Parts: sequence; structure tokens; C-alpha cells
Amino acid sequence: MPATAVYPEPLLRRVEVAAPVAAAAGEAVTQTGDVKIATEHVSISYSEKVAVRDVSLTVQPRSILALIGPSGSGKSTFLRCFNRMNDLIPGASVKGEVCLDGENVMDPQVSVVELRRRVGMVFQRPNPFPMSIYENVAYGPRRRGQNDRRKLDELVETSLKRAALWDEVKDDLRRKSGLALSGGQQQRLCIARVLATDPDVILMDEPASALDPVSTLRIEELMRELREAYTIVIVTHNMQQAARVSDVTAFFTMAEDRAGYLVEVGPTGQIFTRPTERLTEDYISGRFG
Ligand SMILES: Nc1ncnc2c1ncn2[C@@H]1O[C@H](COP(=O)(O)OP(=O)(O)OP(=O)(O)O)[C@@H](O)[C@H]1O
Ligand SMILES: [Mg+2]
Repeated sequence: MPATAVYPEPLLRRVEVAAPVAAAAGEAVTQTGDVKIATEHVSISYSEKVAVRDVSLTVQPRSILALIGPSGSGKSTFLRCFNRMNDLIPGASVKGEVCLDGENVMDPQVSVVELRRRVGMVFQRPNPFPMSIYENVAYGPRRRGQNDRRKLDELVETSLKRAALWDEVKDDLRRKSGLALSGGQQQRLCIARVLATDPDVILMDEPASALDPVSTLRIEELMRELREAYTIVIVTHNMQQAARVSDVTAFFTMAEDRAGYLVEVGPTGQIFTRPTERLTEDYISGRFG
């Protein structure tokens, strides 16, 4: 088959692409000035083994970047470099620059606590703390010294509203444990907990993969809403999800030495319909991974 093979029909029909937004965001990515996050030659190793090699990309403010690619291609490892979560893994080392609003977060002078407030994280498995819904959301602000009851009440309410959970929990805020919510509700609680710390960027590692289809759509809707105010980077194995929610998609795969690398990044509409690289096309159409 020639390299310019026509994109496989069935996938085109299955995937609904958020085309106008994607194209606009993607075009803007190549313009200068409007950059929230930029990674420059980022390589990440665990002891001697390279897990991510030489990744440079930019993320526009108020956009959603999706990281896709086969298992082991370094998506989670790369995601963790945005808020230095790899610092917590023994043996992990990161090279290159990760700039947030133009400032290199790898700089030893950067406060990691403050960085993680600005760049919040939502994990695959919802992980509410074993405390009330209210206390889950108030936890971050309290740790930062906010003790004014009225301000905390307000913050809890706005965060739960933004996370589209308020109506379901408002009568049980202090009585019900975060652990007593359904999986989808727990994930929205974790999102509210992140929002309460007033972040700029939200990282999500397969945030809906443990959820049922209805809860998944709920989370996707929520991501689109949050995109109005936040920059979001999401890892997903769900192609439809990447196509539905993201503006820009980055495809990772493994080199022969198993190190993950970035094959291509571009507007989601283009990546899913006219990828530049054969490897991307093969992956998206299910010929690999
Ligand atoms: N804590 C760790 N210690 C050592 N090696 C690790 C660690 N975490 C990940 N790795 C290795 O780094 C490589 C990339 O892993 P990573 O979890 O980033 O991939 P991924 O693309 O997120 O995969 P998946 O889709 O399965 O979640 C793999 O070879 C993995 O074994
Ligand atoms: Mg992963």
C-alpha cells in the first residue's frame, strides 16, 4: 500500500471529530506567544532504562491535549513531568525543559508544592480521602491555611458546581463519606478537589477508564466545560474519547529499544483523518497496539 493510503473507512465513520475547535486550536499551536506549556527535549529514564525519549511539544492555554499510544509508550511517565510527579519515583530522572508560562519547572528553585497546586492531577482510579465530601474538597485549601468557614463553604460549593456534582451531593456534604459515592461521582469529587486548589492546568491519566459509559460521557462533557478556564492534558486509550474531547492529539509509540517517543502531534481532526505518519495511521486504524 502506498504511504498515502486512504484513511480506513470504518474508523472515519466511528469517530466523531470535534473538527472546528480542533483545527482552530491546532493552527494556533504553531503560532508564537500563546503557549501554556512547552516541553523541550524531554527524556525520562527509570534507572538506566529510557522510558521517554526527546519529546518537544507545546500546549495552548485553554485547550485539551490528548496523549494516545500503545501500553508502555511512556504516556503516563510523560504526563507526570508536567508537575514533577516523577520526582516521587525512586530511580526516575528527567532531562530537558518543561516550561509552564515560560518558567522551567525543572529548576531546583521551583516550589514543587506550589507547582502541584497549579498543575493538578486526576488519576485512573478515583481516590477520594476517607472523609466527608465537604472535607475532601476543603482539604487542599485548608492545608494552604484557609480556615475561614464561610470562605471554605463557598469554595466547596463552587468547586462541586464546576465539577458537575453539586446537585447530587448538596444535601449530604458533611454526612456522607467521599467513599460512599458511585465511581463516576467519586471521579467528579476528585476533580472538584483539584479545582478547589485553583489550578491552571489539570492532568488526567485515563480518568474514565474505570467508569461505565454514562459516567464516562459525563466526565467528557465536564472536560469540555473545564476547557473554558483550564488547560487540560489527558491520557486515554479510548480513541473515540480522544477524538471527541481533545483539540490536539499526540501519538506516542515505542522505538526498538522500547523507549517511548512522540511520533506526531497535531490538530485532533487531522490526526484522526489525515495523519502524517504511517505509524499513527496503523495505530488509529487498529493495525497496532
Ligand atoms: N515506576 C516505574 N519504575 C520503573 N519503570 C517504570 C515505572 N513506571 C513506568 N515504567 C516503565 O516505563 C515505560 C513507560 O511506562 P508508562 O507507564 O509511562 O507507559 P504508558 O504509555 O502510560 O502505558 P499504559 O498505557 O499501559 O498506561 C514502561 O516500560 C514501564 O515499564
Ligand atoms: Mg499509563
